Parts: sequence; C-alpha cells; structure tokens
Amino acid sequence: MTRRLENTASGLATAASILRAGGLVAFGTETVYGLGGDATQPQAVARIFEAKNRPRFNPLISHFPDAASAFRQVVPNPLALRLADMFWPGPLTLVLPRAQGSTVSDLAADGLASLAVRVPRGESAQALLRLAGRPIAAPSANRSGRISPSTAAHVLEELDGRIDAVLDSGPCAVGLESTVLDLTDPARPCLLRPGGITLEALQAICGPIALPDTQSDAAPLSPGRMLSHYAPHLPVRLDVITPMADEALLAFGPQSNAPPPGALVWNLSEHGHLEEAATRLFSGLRTLDDAGQRLHLRGIAVQPVPAHGLGLAIRDRLNRAAAPRPGTPHDDTPHGTAQNAPLADGGIPPLPASPPDTGAAPAGQTQHAPVAQESDSPS
Ligand code: TXA
Ligand code: MG
Repeated sequence: MTRRLENTASGLATAASILRAGGLVAFGTETVYGLGGDATQPQAVARIFEAKNRPRFNPLISHFPDAASAFRQVVPNPLALRLADMFWPGPLTLVLPRAQGSTVSDLAADGLASLAVRVPRGESAQALLRLAGRPIAAPSANRSGRISPSTAAHVLEELDGRIDAVLDSGPCAVGLESTVLDLTDPARPCLLRPGGITLEALQAICGPIALPDTQSDAAPLSPGRMLSHYAPHLPVRLDVITPMADEALLAFGPQSNAPPPGALVWNLSEHGHLEEAATRLFSGLRTLDDAGQRLHLRGIAVQPVPAHGLGLAIRDRLNRAAAPRPGTPHDDTPHGTAQNAPLADGGIPPLPASPPDTGAAPAGQTQHAPVAQESDSPS
C-alpha cells in the first residue's frame, strides 16, 4: 500500500524520514510529480528504477533545496551560476561535471562524469528537500514510457503499491518537466530537453544554444529523450484541424465550430495561452486516453500548437506521445506513424507528419506538417 501524506508539518516529516531510510516518496514540484529516493543510496535508486519499470538505467536528476547545496555536487562555471541566479528555484535542470567529492551514487548518475542538478520551486518540495538533507533523485513519478503525473491521484494511478508514499501538494503549477541544459562545456551550452524555462529565455542569457542533431534512440545525449515516451494507450495523431468522428480531440485555442454532441474534447487553452496549455497537457492526455478507451474511440487527434515559447516543450511531448511504441511495428494507418523530420530551427523533435488521409475526414481539414520523409526507428 502506498500512503497518501498530507502537505503538513507531520506529513513532510514522515516523507523525509522515509526518504532518509531509503524508501520512495513521490512529491509535487512546480513541473510534475517526482518519484523521490535518496540519490546517495544505490539501493534507493535501484528501487526507483524497479518501481518505474524502466527498461534500462538512465541518469537521474538530483534535487536540492538551494543552489549552494546543488553546487557542492558539481563543478559550476560562471554561466551556470548566472542561470541559477536567474531561474532557481524553478524549472531548469543544469548538467555539469560531477564534483570530485560528490556523494551522489554512480547508479543515480549512471556512471557518467556529469550530473544533472535542479532546485525546484514550490514550498512543499523545498521543505521536503531541506528536511531530507541530501540529494534526492527524482524522475517523473510515472511508469516508464507513460504520461507524467501532475497530481497525486495520477501518481497513485501509476504507482500505487509500488512506492512507500505520495506527498500530496496539489496540482503542479507548470505541468511540464524542467528544461535540461548541458553546460559541461560552457562555451557550447546544449539544450537536451525543452521544458518549463523557454529556449528564448535561456538564449537571452547564454547566446546561441546548440540543439542535439539527432532524436533517434541511438545513443541519445539525454537518455530520457527516448522517442516513444509519454505514451497514452490510444494512438495519437498530430496537427489535425478537424478530428474524425471516432477520435477524441485534444484542442488548442478558440474553436470556430462547436464540437458535435457527445464528442470527447479537452481544450488545452481556449484562449490559446501556452502556459495554460502546458499545465493542462498531461491531464488532458490522461483524461482523453481513459475516456476514449471506455468509449472505444480509435485514437486522440491533436490540433496544432505553435512552436515558440512553451509551445516547443509541448510539441516535444506531443511528438513523443505520437511516436511508435517500442516493439510496435510501424504501420501506415493515420495512427502509429513513424515519419519524423528535423524542424527548421534545429533538433527539437518535430511533430510526425500525418500520412495522406484515408478519406475518413473531409478533404482539406487535416493539416500536414511540412516534412522531409526521413524515417526514425526507435529500438
Ligand atoms: O521536471 C523535472 O525535471 C522532473 C521533476 C520530477 O523534477 N524530473 C524529470 O526527471 O523529468 P526524468 O528522469 O524523467 O528526466 C530527466 C532527464 C532525462 O532526459 C535524463 O536522461 C536527463 O534528464 N539527464 C539526467 N542526468 C543527465 C546527464 N548527466 N546528462 C544528460 N542528461 C541527463
Ligand atoms: Mg520522465
């Protein structure tokens, strides 16, 4: 049984003592719920992988209550110090060389010479990290490959019985994971994952930022960039203007036509606000997936989301939700397509193109992303 702890002094104290004893506690951050374990205890870290059912080890982000404790575990450079000053606490993860005296276990760092560190915002997360008094490894608190949780109820749907406790601090404010920036070479900052801090905000301070040039699963720089990720059970079709009758719709922005009666629709933001859309993304996918399966719908159609600001991170997650699932043969139906192409602005995963319509939707209503036909085959 997984205990549900209230966000009170006693709930926090219990959560911290479970963590110190090597147990697992999911806790809310401003981005998503993290599955926390003591990063210095390899057994605790191993339990994280086991609870998530991760197919392979993956370096985990270590979480701290403040920059001073984070920078004891890594070798900061002036750019890192500046970014930390600007954005911490907040949804930015910095990858830096691991410090000689780092107490983070090799298992948490996946044996790498670098370490990802982050100082989350949010009173409850900060209080817990302070009480725990050690680096806390925390991947998103979902089973591997599934949608990240933004409420305690989502965590329990994923991990009930597999972890010791969940500390319920309410819904997450940002709703998307942190931006991961590799600063191991400060002369060449590299965006490993778009997230809660926008690329534009980082560029204003760092200047040009490199984007990884491959999104395939082969030797990804940031292993969590696995193509098929955030996967609902139902197939996902992207950049759709009008859904088919038997699809659920993840909408974005004002709708010119009222949905047909009984249609399953979740609007990320009726006013087209990207911040609001980010907070509603994972709940929307989850809700449409659950209800859509009950209603025997064929999939989830997603309206276009602009590729700037937080839209970049939203498109990244949607692209992964639509990617072919590991072990699933590519098919040529409108769902489960495998075509990907680099975006004009660099290596952020593009929305897969929809193949030509099968005729089920009226002509001209489905918009196709402009793509080169480059196939990606995740293992
Ligand atoms: O918002 C977040 O970052 C959430 C909350 C809970 O803090 N955590 C999260 O963790 O999303 P996770 O494990 O799901 O994603 C961590 C990402 C992965 O893409 C992982 O490969 C990458 O960070 N990462 C961790 N350490 C790394 C390293 N040393 N070098 C490159 N990438 C690293
Ligand atoms: Mg994750």
